[in-house]
Amino acid sequence: MRLVAGNWKMNKSPEEARAFGQDLSRAGLPEGVRALLFPTALALEHLVATVPSTVGVGVQNAHPEVCGAFTGEISAAMAKEAGASWGLAGHSERRELFGECDALAAERVSGLLRAGLNVMFCVGERMEDRERGLTDRVLRRQLGALKEEDLAHQRLSVAYEPVWAIGSGKAAGPKEATEAVLMIQEFARRPLTVLYGGSVNPTNVERYFQSGELGGVLVGGASLNPQTFRELLVAVAL
Ligand code: 13P
Repeated sequence: MRLVAGNWKMNKSPEEARAFGQDLSRAGLPEGVRALLFPTALALEHLVATVPSTVGVGVQNAHPEVCGAFTGEISAAMAKEAGASWGLAGHSERRELFGECDALAAERVSGLLRAGLNVMFCVGERMEDRERGLTDRVLRRQLGALKEEDLAHQRLSVAYEPVWAIGSGKAAGPKEATEAVLMIQEFARRPLTVLYGGSVNPTNVERYFQSGELGGVLVGGASLNPQTFRELLVAVAL
């Protein structure tokens, strides 16, 4: 089933997350589409308590160790206890703004899988990479950092999020998105679920599914409003 995932980034307090969950529950969800939300870690429990039970809730970032002297980090096991069933790893904001390297992103993936969570691993090139024809090479490098068994894991999905399309209003075209999906699946040597992310909204979302290759979308800004998030679900539902 197609997946619409909302990454809230550093938005929504616990109380705002609760209100969002209540709004979504009141409005009801369309059939034929899976919904998933990534609130801040502080709001996990508030969202889990209020969204319809079919909505998955995930953690945006988790340390590979279960516990220890890692100030400011939380573990996948802790997120799971708070109700998370998914985890993001390798988001370009972690890579670009917090200097996280391929190896750390890959370790975070392993930690999430070990904790029993589903993982959405993000990859994507910068505009200068694309202009220099390096998109494939960047995606292969990011994917190649994963352990073989993690790449083969049934609980791993990949989100293709070109850095230049995130929060810019310049969404990638369906052709660019489809090319990346096929490249990622070829690299993984299996038909794993690949999502597209970057300036997706209710108006442009349908075009990504026309090729039949995309497993879902990962949405930032347009997932923050419950009505707009629901519009995305309705547009994508089969
Ligand atoms: P926008 O939809 O705001 O471009 O963000 C995309 C994103 O980074 C989702 O992880």
